Amino acid sequence: MAEGSDVNMTGAPSERECVVLANGHDNVAPDSEERAAKRLKVDGPAKLAGSNAIEEPVNVPAKPKENSVVENTMPAERLRDAPANEDDVKRPDVIDSRDRRNGDAPIKKEYLIDVSASKNSSEAVDDDEAEGRGGNANGVPRQDDRDAGGKARGKKDKRSKGQNTDRTFGKFDDALPLCNSRAFYPEFSPRECKYGDRCKLCHDLRKYLKEGRRDDVETFGGKCPVFEQYGSCPSGWKCRFVKSHMQEVEREDGRKELVLTNNNNNKLAEKAKADGTAEENGESGEQKHEPGNDEPEERRLGIVNVVPMAHKIELNRRRTNFTKADQYIKWTNHEAELGNEFHHRKKGQSTEGIDDLRARFVDPPFKPSEKRRLYFGPETPTLAPLTTQGNLPFRRLCVELGCEVTYSEMALSMQLLQGSKADWTLMKAHESEVSPPKFSPGKAFVFDTYNNAKDLKFGAQISGNQPWMVTKVADVLNRFCPHLRLIDLNCGCPIDMVFKSGGGSALLESQAKMERMIRGMNVMSGEIPITAKIRTGVKNNRPTATQLLGRLAFGAREHRERLGAPGCAAVTLHGRSREQRYTKRADWGYIGECAALVKSYNTQKDALTDTVAEPDASTLPNAKDGRMYFLGNGDCYSHVDYFDNINKAHVDSVMIGRGALIKPWIFEEIEKGQFLDKSSSERLGYVERFVRYGLEAWGSDELGIGFTRRFLLEWLSFAHRYVPIGLLEYLPPSLNDRPPAYRGRDELETLMASTNYKDWIKITEMFLGPVHPGFQFIPKHKSNSYEAEG
Ligand SMILES: Cc1cc2nc3c(=O)[nH]c(=O)nc-3n(C[C@H](O)[C@H](O)[C@H](O)COP(=O)(O)O)c2cc1C
Ligand SMILES: [Zn+2]
Ligand SMILES: [Zn+2]
Repeated sequence: MAEGSDVNMTGAPSERECVVLANGHDNVAPDSEERAAKRLKVDGPAKLAGSNAIEEPVNVPAKPKENSVVENTMPAERLRDAPANEDDVKRPDVIDSRDRRNGDAPIKKEYLIDVSASKNSSEAVDDDEAEGRGGNANGVPRQDDRDAGGKARGKKDKRSKGQNTDRTFGKFDDALPLCNSRAFYPEFSPRECKYGDRCKLCHDLRKYLKEGRRDDVETFGGKCPVFEQYGSCPSGWKCRFVKSHMQEVEREDGRKELVLTNNNNNKLAEKAKADGTAEENGESGEQKHEPGNDEPEERRLGIVNVVPMAHKIELNRRRTNFTKADQYIKWTNHEAELGNEFHHRKKGQSTEGIDDLRARFVDPPFKPSEKRRLYFGPETPTLAPLTTQGNLPFRRLCVELGCEVTYSEMALSMQLLQGSKADWTLMKAHESEVSPPKFSPGKAFVFDTYNNAKDLKFGAQISGNQPWMVTKVADVLNRFCPHLRLIDLNCGCPIDMVFKSGGGSALLESQAKMERMIRGMNVMSGEIPITAKIRTGVKNNRPTATQLLGRLAFGAREHRERLGAPGCAAVTLHGRSREQRYTKRADWGYIGECAALVKSYNTQKDALTDTVAEPDASTLPNAKDGRMYFLGNGDCYSHVDYFDNINKAHVDSVMIGRGALIKPWIFEEIEKGQFLDKSSSERLGYVERFVRYGLEAWGSDELGIGFTRRFLLEWLSFAHRYVPIGLLEYLPPSLNDRPPAYRGRDELETLMASTNYKDWIKITEMFLGPVHPGFQFIPKHKSNSYEAEG
């Protein structure tokens, strides 16, 4: 398939080594039954929910030493050499599920439900449909504006098969919304409302509390989880747990005043100071005005990259200063025109003519700054950028479970440049994402000047269809978001809205444009490195990744010498074409070929730096010894897949999408090198954590609860697909297997496997109370939206 590759990666299951179901034997027998006999069978049902040893691995013969996972050998390697577990060796019928793939999850008989009479087993799910998030590319707002109350309505997109495109979530706000000039202050000393008489919101606190809102939520023992955590609650009076952090105090004149309890003014004050939103007059009434801005989103704790409203307004009014970017863009445009002429020059044009043309090329007005170095290795499993799903609370959960690198949801360049709140919201990260990723030197290539202490986990992903657009976006991201590891250009998005506008995967076939985009971003992003996420190609039978990689590594032949490399510090390849749907497996053979190619490029670059032909150091992606990191992506669903991919395809690291959505503890499995059979109660514990993180990020008011519920439901639309491994006949499980109808080991496990979204709503109500009367949830996949039968 690919030119210049000498790697033989078949990826065929029959030729794979069995990595984790290790029993000390190598997997050599040609006959699959015989080979299977050397493998281990999964034990009976794991411990039931509620037992303590829920994390006990299912049938992992050798337990890795505590904390030795990355420091010593990689788990997969260690497990391969692990001594056989006696019990397991005795079993004759030992099978690796990869020998038996037929698309159905191999659920043990005792858990199957006979559904011959009713429609119940899950339909194939087209995960491509999940990538969109409503709205369109032309600036029409989307419905998931997490800071605008979900009130925006996107224009109806063309209906596509299997997807509920016209999704609404109802309106979830207070009946009588309280004005922010009242929301955070004691009853007798509110702020003056900026909007005066024009303000339609409620200014009477008692009225609001009495008739303007629903009753407090009774979950979490009625105690505000945010207040419990931080000693203050940024939702103020609007909090649906406000009873737990308010009181009525009697003043000297006998008047009774409602005040908010605040055990921790300091944290908010510190944040306000750090954000530059601290008040100047320092007015401090007896019950203290909380310092900070009246924008609720700017008050929340533990969240970074919160871009002040003023910046967004400036962008929207086109008052942001883009002098430098404009200068560069002018040069790019000139360059593009000349490039065009050069390409379309008449055959047989005289050499003088060509030289004339050449002479008209001018150097760019400036060069990229020195970039912060990146690192990707086996110890940095990476969460994929995931529209809607990869929201801040979900990423925070993944990081807690061992994820080392995270990406924002894809933001649209045009929207960012227009100051769209919804898209700037996507740049926010949790402070846990700002800590350095794990780093064990010796695992993968590392730059001499890599500084792990300066590195962080969170990167931004943007899409765009024009070089000027993404160049400006890189500029503002660099100026407005202090905590970005990298800026990734989406060159893989398959959805029509993006593709038809020339962005996302359309860029795979506009390589000159893509190169200009990367160059422009790299020039304007300051010290933030630029990366790209690509697919194998647009069409199935026309893979373009190999060609593209050369271009990203060195730039087009014609300007290589003059301009140097475009400055792409890492590439992630999703091993599917745009055309291909998720039903086919990602092509890890092709990913392996591409990894080998990148490796050879890196060697060439090393050679280049040793010769007189050394290119201008400042133009290389990672300066002088510029090299690209290379990540593979597609279908990773356990540590087995993860280390298989790393060991066989020789990628630096693996990016994980749906696997993490279905079981976020995949990162823990990778860290520990073993399967984890999580009980239903433990899984519900993750749901609870998500809820807490949601309330912290979006607020514990009606709106924040609505968003938390909505995004929890989105997550559950993936999480319910998890089949507990204790229920499986064989391991490893496959991401693409569909389970027949089955029951869990307890009621909760059965509930959590329900494909009916009404059951998912029940799960949200366990933590968030009854849904708002106007609340609606229509799952993205039609296959999930059928009603309960009987
Ligand atoms: C719900 C969903 C949303 C996605 N959103 C994005 C996105 O915003 N940007 C992107 O580059 N890829 C996106 N993808 C693609 C994933 O990043 C990833 O490439 C793909 O899911 C394959 O990896 P997997 O097999 O591990 O899921 C999305 C995929 C899904 C399922
Ligand atoms: Zn007002
Ligand atoms: Zn609260």
